[in-house]
Amino acid sequence: MSTLGVLTGGGDCPGLNAAIRAIVRGAIAQRYEVVGIRHGFRGLARGVTVPLDRRAVAGILPRGGTILGSSSYDCFREENGVSLVIDTTRALELDGVVAIGGEGTLSIAHRLHVEHGYPVVGVPKTIDNDIAGTDVTIGFDTAVHVCTEAIDRLHSTAESHNRVMVVEVMGRNTGWIAAAAGIAGGADVILVPEIPTAIEEVADHVRKRHAQGRDFSIVVVAEGYRLTRRTGEQESAVVQQLDEYGYERLGGVGRVVAEELTSLTEFETRVTVLGHVQRGGTPTARDRFLATRLGLKAAELAGAGLWGRMAAVDGNEIVDVPLERVTGVRRDAPAEWIEAGRVVA
Ligand code: F6P
Repeated sequence: MSTLGVLTGGGDCPGLNAAIRAIVRGAIAQRYEVVGIRHGFRGLARGVTVPLDRRAVAGILPRGGTILGSSSYDCFREENGVSLVIDTTRALELDGVVAIGGEGTLSIAHRLHVEHGYPVVGVPKTIDNDIAGTDVTIGFDTAVHVCTEAIDRLHSTAESHNRVMVVEVMGRNTGWIAAAAGIAGGADVILVPEIPTAIEEVADHVRKRHAQGRDFSIVVVAEGYRLTRRTGEQESAVVQQLDEYGYERLGGVGRVVAEELTSLTEFETRVTVLGHVQRGGTPTARDRFLATRLGLKAAELAGAGLWGRMAAVDGNEIVDVPLERVTGVRRDAPAEWIEAGRVVA
């Protein structure tokens, strides 16, 4: 009997458990035994595992987070990290691993595969939706849903007080969440990293709305937006701190935007930072459905020995692409989404 490992790496997101469940059940159907690896590649380097059978994954479909735990550990950044991963894989008698992750995790998987012939298949997840090679990632739909609901709620309080409400959403260096939730929530302004929008233009737009009798404005800003002035001058993205693995944590631009708007317009301004609420809770039906289809595809790729590939979405189809497609590329939110948000605002 062959044994397949499964791990979740990077930040968690809703839909990971649905993917794990599908991988386990899909792999068992192909006569694999499945082993869960705890805390991403760190668990693979340290040999921390948990057996996964059909029963172990019963009831996890609607649960947020990941039953396996996750980390941003990168074996290429630890001395002997790669040897540890390879030796542990051998010791655990794994025939291959399915790595569910974002750009970081999938890039590690790719390097392991090309540089060491490591048998690995990828599944794309991140609320940011910025992974190349797939139309959509697990977790994005839920994050958009959460943000849209928050914007709806902010509408009702904003219109009672003649205020400008600034809502900061995640997305790292892209504006997928801001654009989708901004449009769905009827935001008056959407600020994303991909398109430099001058803060003075935002102030003009807000002033114009209020002059026309609208008594509130909602500004959705992606955490990666860089404050831009009419002169073209642009500040750096606002970084809070580095995480335990040395990766930059964005956050705080909402406050910067609000302070600028207060001084430019003199309207009262409030800031809401949605933060990790966007990543928590039960996945939407669409994310469960997507995660299940991608998980089954990953199990099928592993069963066929098609290592070095990633299960992906192309239109309505689940396909597979080389992991190489993912690495070093940032997939931006489409310009027409931002334009659509402007037209309807
Ligand atoms: O990549 C997903 C994401 O939620 C980003 O949108 C955000 O910038 C980052 O992770 C937050 O990371 P952490 O959970 O380490 O604070």
